[in-house]
Amino acid sequence: MNPIERIKDEKNGLDILDEIDELAAQHGGWETLEPDDRERLKWIGIFFRKPTPGRFMMRIRITNGQLASRQLHTLASLAQRLGNGVIDITTRQQLELRAVQIRDVPDILEALRGVDLTSLQTGMDNIRGVNTCALSGLTPYELFDAAPVGEQFTQTFLGNREYTNLPRKLNVTITGCLENCTHSETQDIALTPAIGPRAAHGFNVAVGGKMGSGGMTVAQPLDIFVAPGEASSLAATITLLFRDEGAREQRTKTRLAFLVQEWGAELFRQRLEERWGAPFTSAGRDVRMQHTTDHLGVAAQRQEGLYSVGLCVPTGRTQAADMMELARLAEVYGAGAIRLTTGQNAIVVGVPEEDVQPLLDETLLTRFSPSPPAFTRGLVSCTGKDYCNLALIETKALGKQLAESLAARFPDAAPLTMNWSGCPAGCGNHHAADIGFQGAKARVDGEVVDAVSIFVGGRTGTDPRPGEKFMDLVPVSMLDELMPVVIDNLATLKKIRREQPAEDRVLMVPVS
Ligand code: HEM
Ligand code: SF4
Repeated sequence: MNPIERIKDEKNGLDILDEIDELAAQHGGWETLEPDDRERLKWIGIFFRKPTPGRFMMRIRITNGQLASRQLHTLASLAQRLGNGVIDITTRQQLELRAVQIRDVPDILEALRGVDLTSLQTGMDNIRGVNTCALSGLTPYELFDAAPVGEQFTQTFLGNREYTNLPRKLNVTITGCLENCTHSETQDIALTPAIGPRAAHGFNVAVGGKMGSGGMTVAQPLDIFVAPGEASSLAATITLLFRDEGAREQRTKTRLAFLVQEWGAELFRQRLEERWGAPFTSAGRDVRMQHTTDHLGVAAQRQEGLYSVGLCVPTGRTQAADMMELARLAEVYGAGAIRLTTGQNAIVVGVPEEDVQPLLDETLLTRFSPSPPAFTRGLVSCTGKDYCNLALIETKALGKQLAESLAARFPDAAPLTMNWSGCPAGCGNHHAADIGFQGAKARVDGEVVDAVSIFVGGRTGTDPRPGEKFMDLVPVSMLDELMPVVIDNLATLKKIRREQPAEDRVLMVPVS
């Protein structure tokens, strides 16, 4: 039994919630925490960070990436009062507070409860924040609003011990967006918009996608169409199938992808159908468009006279004061609501036409731009060396710096995605980007220096592909010089792909 399985076997991870007051009061310091309890804290969203001992990261679940301005204000004030003022927006549309002390956790949990937020099950072998289109219910380019399904599914598993001992983490996207904004193809469970029998709106189902050190695995379609009313239940059934049948030995081989690989999609579907207890309907017509979107900039909502204003937050790293200001702007100009995107950005929604320009004139928008330069627009970065002990390099500042220098040199470039991961774990989704950077170390003249492996041509959407390694172990000091070569190669690669015959392309679900 691997150490994590032992920890889970001895006690349910969620039990730590009942013990947290005692742990915080009794120990008064992190040094006396038992190593197993330190792991268990991740079940309530509290992460020991080796580079900052005693200062924990706290991950807040933001279901569907939707939050109210008062919730954001509360988080920002917690970050200021009990953290170090830094808040990160993650690629799962979640928020992370930095440098929290264990003695303050009970107060933070209380404050979160006060605004209907939770940090439960945001780490370890749990169902992570459920993703959906950041403009769910608002964008004209969706089949239907899928957010209620994500909410219903979350209510099923949150605080429910049936779902807190999975073989590994489980990433879920449930989306009605036609513009592929959530990279569904890399999720363990992906429900994407489709039209079923009698023109019914619903989802096609794919399973077993993942990112990470083994590379990007594209989720396999199960040839199932599910109606919105049954979708949450189906996601729960898939989760329990994974819980009961997924391998639990080697941690590197326990994601749902490995079970899907072992069984094949057909057998997986069969076993799932047995649990489901009724025959499945075959996949519906995949109605997603060919392109992907980031939902940045000013866009008309479905609701007449209202607009969304998507703001670029470079690498998702923010200061609490800026988040408070964002919450205020959402109150003053919008519907008091903010949406987070999988590109680590934020959207003010429900802005009446006459308030769009005054919002655009606000000072904060000089930092969080609705129309950023091409290279900053698609920039995503994992935590990197600042707070992550696995990081081989610093990522966020380096990514920003490179994006700025490229913008100056290629002012007319079309938007492209540049994703950074500080190590092979791949939390920054670098395999799914136009240009992906993976942190490494290289030896130059006998000296060890920060380096990256560069991947090009990765993408998600209806034609998903992992990026191909283009250069290995490039010292970061040489990046400026080498980037034109990478960009040229990328342009060629994109051209080649566009010319490929349609049948050669990997569609997630065949269009019938
Ligand atoms: C061996 C595999 C992995 C390890 C050890 C690992 C480790 C970590 C750590 C330590 C953090 C927190 C860093 C911090 O913010 O302080 C993190 C965050 C994160 N990781 Fe990974 N990771 C792994 C694989 C992955 C994979 C395959 C993905 C999918 C792309 C991923 C996505 C994320 C995301 C999105 C976050 C930000 C928080 C969230 O919203 O869940 N990780 N990871
Ligand atoms: S990719 Fe590596 S460095 Fe970045 S957050 Fe994940 S584990 Fe840490």
